[in-house]
Amino acid sequence: MSAPAVAPLRLVVLISGRGSNLMAIAAQCANGQLNARTVLVIADQPEAAGLGWAAAQGIPAQAIAATQFRADGVFDRAAFEQALASAIDAGQPDLIILAGFMRVLSAGFVARYAGRLLNIHPSLLPAYKGLHTHERVLAAGELQHGASVHFVTAELDGGPVVLQASVPVLPGDDAASLAARVQTQEHLIYPQVIHWIAEQRLQWLQGLVVMDGQPLLMPLQWTTEST
Ligand code: GAR
Repeated sequence: MSAPAVAPLRLVVLISGRGSNLMAIAAQCANGQLNARTVLVIADQPEAAGLGWAAAQGIPAQAIAATQFRADGVFDRAAFEQALASAIDAGQPDLIILAGFMRVLSAGFVARYAGRLLNIHPSLLPAYKGLHTHERVLAAGELQHGASVHFVTAELDGGPVVLQASVPVLPGDDAASLAARVQTQEHLIYPQVIHWIAEQRLQWLQGLVVMDGQPLLMPLQWTTEST
């Protein structure tokens, strides 16, 4: 196989838990499908399972424990974000990948990495921003659910969506079965968006998302042809 023309994208991946999206992305980096390299994994929870997994793979992995920035019940977000930014910058990333990173980031932090911050959210945004999406989708009796990959802006779960995948809500579903169905799709669409950026097909130009040279006005919908 000939060497890729462009240097691999440097990814810093931020997690809080299991890290299955991290694993899906790392797998595609390892098998050459994705011209990218996970240079650092950071978790805000030292016990995050994905952190141990990364270390076992030889991927540099670091905890920045959010609890250490809490005193008398008050969270010092500025100090936490300063520590987080220092760690991120040490990795010299092209992209910062939020993969189940369960923290709200300040507008200043987001601005520092504008156009380089991606997130995956377990809903068909703009529907069901925030937490407990699977439970809320079930409670509302929705027939469709899904996941969205979006650029991060200061508005929580509000940045421009690049790619979405839909799944049906099936009779008998509970939050766990629905989450599992959604996650199967997450593991496809997150690497895909990173791939488009690595291929320089997808760009963030001064707040505008551009795909194949055209402003992306609506989210793309995942199909097996979305490659
Ligand atoms: C994923 O389902 C992701 O969409 C969600 O957390 C899960 C992390 O799973 N993210 C959010 O809810 C962000 N608001 P993982 O640790 O196995 O990748």
